[in-house]
Amino acid sequence: MADDRNDAPAYPVGLRLSGRRVVVLGGGTVAQRRLPALVSAGADIVLISPSATPSVEAMADAGELRWERRPYQEGDLADAWYALIATTDTTANAAASAEAEARRVWCVRSDDAEAATAWTPATGRSEGVTVAVLTGRDPRRSAAVRDAVVEGLRDGTLVAPRHRERTPGVALVGGGPGDPDLITVRGRRLLAEADVVIADRLGPRDLLDELPPHVEVIDAAKIPYGRFMAQEAINNALIEHARAGKAVVRLKGGDPFVFGRGMEEAEALAEAGIACTVVPGISSSISVPGAAGIPVTHRGVAHEFTVVSGHVAPEDPRSLVDWEALAKLRGTLVLLMAVERIGAIATALVRHGRSATTPVAVIQEGTMATQRRVDATLATVAQVVTDTEIRPPAVIVIGDVVGVGRAVRG
Ligand SMILES: C[S@@+](CC[C@H](N)C(=O)[O-])C[C@H]1O[C@@H](n2cnc3c(N)ncnc32)[C@H](O)[C@@H]1O
Repeated sequence: MADDRNDAPAYPVGLRLSGRRVVVLGGGTVAQRRLPALVSAGADIVLISPSATPSVEAMADAGELRWERRPYQEGDLADAWYALIATTDTTANAAASAEAEARRVWCVRSDDAEAATAWTPATGRSEGVTVAVLTGRDPRRSAAVRDAVVEGLRDGTLVAPRHRERTPGVALVGGGPGDPDLITVRGRRLLAEADVVIADRLGPRDLLDELPPHVEVIDAAKIPYGRFMAQEAINNALIEHARAGKAVVRLKGGDPFVFGRGMEEAEALAEAGIACTVVPGISSSISVPGAAGIPVTHRGVAHEFTVVSGHVAPEDPRSLVDWEALAKLRGTLVLLMAVERIGAIATALVRHGRSATTPVAVIQEGTMATQRRVDATLATVAQVVTDTEIRPPAVIVIGDVVGVGRAVRG
């Protein structure tokens, strides 16, 4: 036996197991937990066990490992680089770890950590970083430390900017409806790693205050556009900063591709030869009704929902919306950018056949501390919006779903 200094800390190392033989003894829940990481490491896995859990069996069926249906026998570790000993037979486990010791094969043992020559750390991955934590005999603590580090890397609260791989370019990030907790973890991380952020008025503006002082934050609405269209000026600013080698985040409200002109920006970047990634966001069209207690679909009430821009009035020849067809739908209509034209829209829907008593809810500044909801019908909504001084941004929900879900309101 090697020198058994039990209090010495383990020496951490990353094994590169691709194509190398790993022998797993026992096909129970321990193997089931450990096998996926061995498979993704590309190990040449031989499982020796008379039986296996259904998941382990499925891995064998899928060709991810070779399964020999028998108990361990002396010599099984002959060609192994690494062994996982996890049978329910302690005598077999002891014999296998003695063989591993004799053959100088690193081995972990599920039944006796002290008799093992290697320990499995609690591991996790986030965006190319592998986190592995060993705390001696306290696996729960290892898992808690692992979770804290992985979560911090994911959501950007643990800032560890890339140095070698950091590539300048633009990330079009959907920031969600406004509540800073409703951005995706990837969006949050990219924001934490950005040099320049070009932000819309809508979306999680509170997050901008948390950015470190060296980050340049630009209000998209305030970019001077001179002879260009405002959108062109934004595109040009994205291109200019990316060409200067900066990591640029274009932070947009909701989802970049829901009335967000995200694809126009992506196309302009592609034309300029600039790398662009898109991070989807939670769209206000679903989340704002949800935050006000309105499900856009509900069994037995609405089996469809349609998201419509109210930016152009129904009678305007530039309108691309077929209000007559929409009036005939039985499901939920969700209107964005419609506060100023809700009177004309409600009139058009009723004229084309939707009942004037159809329930309507208007939610202003959804998901934010200032959120407010007013209820009306198609007949009354224009007056209610005026009387209650509803202002954009607001989402307008039309349909019977407005009446359900009161249980979760407020
Ligand atoms: C230009 S569209 C952008 C939509 C965005 N891309 C999305 O997916 O939510 C802007 C409209 O979204 C709606 N909106 C966005 N955020 C909102 C919020 N927090 N509360 C209410 N309406 C919101 C309003 O109708 C607003 O006029």
